[in-house]
Amino acid sequence: MFRKYVSGLILLVAGLTIGWAALAAKAQQPPAPGQNAPAAHAYKPTPEDAARPNPMKFTENSVNRGKRVYSTQCAMCHGDTGTGNGDLAKDMNATPPDFTNPATLKDRTDGELFAIIGAGSGVMPAQGDRMKDYHKWDAINYLRFISGRVPAKSTPDEFDPDHPTVVMQQQPK
Ligand code: HEC
Repeated sequence: MFRKYVSGLILLVAGLTIGWAALAAKAQQPPAPGQNAPAAHAYKPTPEDAARPNPMKFTENSVNRGKRVYSTQCAMCHGDTGTGNGDLAKDMNATPPDFTNPATLKDRTDGELFAIIGAGSGVMPAQGDRMKDYHKWDAINYLRFISGRVPAKSTPDEFDPDHPTVVMQQQPK
């Protein structure tokens, strides 16, 4: 009688363990194709892309303009603060990287980011000619800012493409 219970109990414990192991294995599986694993870029930046310099100085004005671009064009996926938890990304089952972690974009040059933003990546839409180039560069400066870098103070004579009556140095494309 007692032995019967014990063997029943052993079976139950074994069953639960197997079930749990199966669930854990499922949770660890990589996302199915089309579901976008992080860093699975559809676009591989070339050496020329990587070498392209950012014509927009890393200043407070540029970061502020970049923030406007980011809030309206990127935050729905990359999240309000850049951690990657935007509602649209959740709906699409996509997992954008955490831009607030300084390690995320550490090895990317501004030129590479410019190329990725222009070409799109996985579910991320290609900005190409849709967005002004200087807005892309400003958005990149904003990404550097949320990763922890401190922009230079803006000066009154700083180039401002959104208010071009302010004095200009050379105008970026
Ligand atoms: C529809 C959702 C979506 C939108 C909108 C979107 N992204 Fe993304 N983005 C992603 C996802 C998902 C990834 C990660 C997967 C990948 O790179 O293919 C990503 C990756 C990136 C990367 C690559 C980071 C790396 O690993 O090097 C950059 C940079 C980036 N996004 C910037 C932007 C900027 C700037 C905007 C706005 C102009 C934007 N994204 C808009 C979904 C989006």
